[in-house]
Amino acid sequence: MKVLSVASEIFPLVKTGGLADVAGALPGALAGQGVEMRSLVPGYPKIMAALQDATEVAPFEGGRILTGQATGLELYVVDRPDLYDRDGGPYTNLTGQDWPDNWARFAALARAAEALTRLGDWCPDLVHAHDWQAGLVPVYLKARETGVPSVLTIHNIAFQGQFGAEIFGALDLPGSVFAMEGVEYYGDVGFLKGGLAMADAITTVSPTYAQEIRDPRFGMGLEGLIAARGEAVHGIVNGIDTGVWDPATDTHLAATYAARTLSRRKQNAAALEARFGLEPGGPLFAVVSRLTWQKGLDLLAASVEHLVGLGGRLAVLGSGEGGLETAFQEAAARHPGRVGCVIGYDEALSHLVQGGADAILVPSRFEPCGLTQLYALRYGCVPVVARTGGLADTVVDANGAALRAGVATGIVHAPDDADALRAALGRAVALFGTPGWAKLQRNGMRADVSWDASAAEYAALYRSLGGVHS
Ligand code: ADP
Ligand code: GLC
Repeated sequence: MKVLSVASEIFPLVKTGGLADVAGALPGALAGQGVEMRSLVPGYPKIMAALQDATEVAPFEGGRILTGQATGLELYVVDRPDLYDRDGGPYTNLTGQDWPDNWARFAALARAAEALTRLGDWCPDLVHAHDWQAGLVPVYLKARETGVPSVLTIHNIAFQGQFGAEIFGALDLPGSVFAMEGVEYYGDVGFLKGGLAMADAITTVSPTYAQEIRDPRFGMGLEGLIAARGEAVHGIVNGIDTGVWDPATDTHLAATYAARTLSRRKQNAAALEARFGLEPGGPLFAVVSRLTWQKGLDLLAASVEHLVGLGGRLAVLGSGEGGLETAFQEAAARHPGRVGCVIGYDEALSHLVQGGADAILVPSRFEPCGLTQLYALRYGCVPVVARTGGLADTVVDANGAALRAGVATGIVHAPDDADALRAALGRAVALFGTPGWAKLQRNGMRADVSWDASAAEYAALYRSLGGVHS
């Protein structure tokens, strides 16, 4: 079965978060399920530079659709320099502001997907779209009567792609689509909303998040539509690329290791201490994250004195909201040797953190899936997480029963609650250094965080939708 995946970022070419990792890993994971997946992405400069042996599939709206390979991925690329050939990020300019024509940039991506169901010699049986940037894919497929089914995956319902009604005329869609059953959203055009209304199936990246977004606290206005789509909504938990994230072979580590050789992690800890300016002694807690409200890191910033008082140390790698960056920089200045902070985005350092820290902290208010706790499990770095979304689905709390049954993998606390986070830090410090801690590490390293099971679920879902040639 042939499936076209449509995403606005893809690892290792362009990444701002977990979406890129998922889009980059799915094609490989699905190959074992008899699904041939190719990926359609915008022609950002980094993608154009990486594209090898590119050939033109067809002219497209004053530009072209190209096909070729890059870093082992089979790509279709929308080559529209007017939309994508810019310095800055995939969504924002160099000063962090959204590109004012994001609606046009991502509507074109969706039209290119629709065009690929008709053009070239590789016509997909089904199209799998990711997040609001590809939200119009199901809309164009349906409105233009392609007969090709679509799946839309919500990686984060907080980002919806909502634009003024005045753009509708430029989308080249029939007027009937500007309706409750289509893209109309409180008088505006909603990219994610339209996709959710018109996709044949909707998935989110964990079963718990699939339930949570039926509730106004998590659905961000779309809870009614999610509930109305009923059985069309599925929760399929993310996996990780266990080739890229493997402590036995990871070239970003000072020392590689396996479950039998956990003591080698000490060398990574020493390298981390040097990078973050930390002195040895006490459990090393770490954060690798976008610094945003979603991630609950203000609760951690307000708990630094508590953590240090318990004898813990903290290393923060992240970037994002100015207030949070400052809060962690100030915490590092207040607690030299005990708290260290690297502001920025550093893929290599994120591997070293997983390979050297004792615990990773993910105190999110909401978390559709979360990948850092999955890397942590694989690296014997104990996850301390809030009980929400994919965090609740992937970490087993070290309560007495779970410890005795040998299934505990981390520490889970209530979200949105600094007292609960502090209690979790206290439990972690109490367990650290006991045989129970090593058990958590080994159980985590044994947990299946690969794509195997979830790739099978995606393949079954695609087949259930009866792709045109399947
Ligand atoms: P989200 O997509 O909401 O940011 P995820 O946990 O799904 O959260 O994915 C985040 C991804 O981005 C992970 O691969 C994580 O390691 C990476 N990441 C986040 N912040 C940084 C950073 N400052 N440096 C390096 N990698 C980071
Ligand atoms: C989003 C979510 C995150 C998820 C990622 C990949 O960025 O915030 O929880 O892991 O997408 O699906």
